[in-house]
Parts: sequence; structure tokens; C-alpha cells
Amino acid sequence: MSFGISRGKPIDTTGIEVPVATLPRLPDDLLHNPTLAHIDIKAWFPNPALPLHLEIGSGKGTFLLQEAPQHPDANWLGIEYEREFFSFAADRLRRTALTNIRMLCLDAGEFVHWRVPDNACRAIHLYFPDPWPKSRHHKRRMIQDRFLQDALRVLEPLGELRVATDHADYWAWMREHFDRWSTPADAPTNKPFAEVPFVRPLGAREGEVVGTNFERKYRLEGREFHATTLRKLPTG
Ligand SMILES: C[S@@+](CC[C@H](N)C(=O)[O-])C[C@H]1O[C@@H](n2cnc3c(N)ncnc32)[C@H](O)[C@@H]1O
Repeated sequence: MSFGISRGKPIDTTGIEVPVATLPRLPDDLLHNPTLAHIDIKAWFPNPALPLHLEIGSGKGTFLLQEAPQHPDANWLGIEYEREFFSFAADRLRRTALTNIRMLCLDAGEFVHWRVPDNACRAIHLYFPDPWPKSRHHKRRMIQDRFLQDALRVLEPLGELRVATDHADYWAWMREHFDRWSTPADAPTNKPFAEVPFVRPLGAREGEVVGTNFERKYRLEGREFHATTLRKLPTG
């Protein structure tokens, strides 16, 4: 829970925020038995049987705000590690009174690696992740081989990693990584993902790829956007 002030309005994240302090502590023998750290995320929602969608880097929460009401048949978890954005997003989402949305304020890469159970997610949404343009910061980019290994583990069979970026250099980096892990959908493969066309979410307006805050801001500058989907093969 977080209370603060945003443009004179009180911020309240109650009901949306899963406070980090309430997460079970990491086990002592984490490295030998990592599954002990996994959390039953689905139990955070009134209907745990629904498929789980995870958004990494929710920013101001627009994607969740647009998608969750259109898909009451799914649970939505947004992760945003900047407290100011997190509080703004969680407060916006609280005002919808929807019960199928939760948010966490922590590092999504570490959370996915350590805390998300195998086969837990129907989809992971990663829209306009920070590009970290300097070479010495590339290790901070979300797309890494370790992350793709984690995505493979936590996605259900046929679950999808959906990605969009406006950053040409980060797109080239993503392509290098995706080509190691996937082949086009109809090609014979021994790789764990198939790359399939990105399907625009329902909340995207005419001409938009996803329709997040970031996209709407930078579309005005005429930036080029790239998007794709990696689908976990049943044998992946
Ligand atoms: C460029 S913004 C895009 C926000 C939003 N997806 C959009 O399109 O409007 C990237 C967001 O990801 C968040 N972020 C970056 N790395 C993160 C991480 N490891 N865990 C959680 N959030 C992260 C940043 O704080 C920022 O809000």
C-alpha cells in the first residue's frame, strides 16, 4: 500500500499493490533448491484459475488500464520498479475497481528469475523497455539469454513473450537474441520458441502498435516501432 500526493490528488494503491514486504522470504538453500522460492502468484487473484498475463515495466499503467477490462477472463500482473510510476499506475488501476489486476514494485528480471513458478504465465508483455544505449550498460537490458531462458520456463506451452521497442540498436540486439532462441513459425526447428507476427492488443488505437504512454508520446516524433512475439513451443 502506498499513500502520497500526485498533482494534488491523494494516491492510494490499496487492492492493486502486492506489498513487497508481504512476499515470503527467500529460503536459505535458494541456490540448491530454487523452486522453494516460487510464489503462488495466481492465489493473489479472486479467480486463480484464470490465465496469468505479466507486464514488465508498466510505466504509467496504460496498457493494463486498456487491456484488463477487455479481458476479464484473465489475471493481469504489472511490475514497475520506479516507485513514482508504480504509485501513479496502481492508483489509476485501483479507480477501475477491477479485481483482476495486481501490481508489484520491484525488479521484474529478478522476480521472474527467482519467484515465478514454471508454466505460470499465458503471456509476458514487454513494451518499450529501457534501451540502455551505452555499451557498458547493455548488461542492464531486459532482453538477455538469461531472461529468455526464464521466459521459457515460466510461460505455459504456447505461451507468448510479446515485445515492442522504438530503439533501433536495442531492436538489433533483440533480433540477435531472438534468432538464437527461435525460428519462424512454420520452419522446422530444434529451438524452443517460434517467432510469430505481433497481434496488436485491443486497446491499440488506429495506427498504434500497442498504445502505451511511451508509444503515444514518441509516435508524435515519427519514430519507427518494432514488435514481435515469441511463442513457446509445446516441446520448448
Ligand atoms: C520506457 S518505459 C516504458 C513504460 C511503458 N511500458 C510504456 O510503454 O509506456 C520503461 C519502464 O520500465 C521500467 N523498468 C525498467 N526496468 C525494469 C525492471 N527491471 N523491473 C521493473 N520495471 C522496470 C522503468 O521504470 C520504466 O517505467
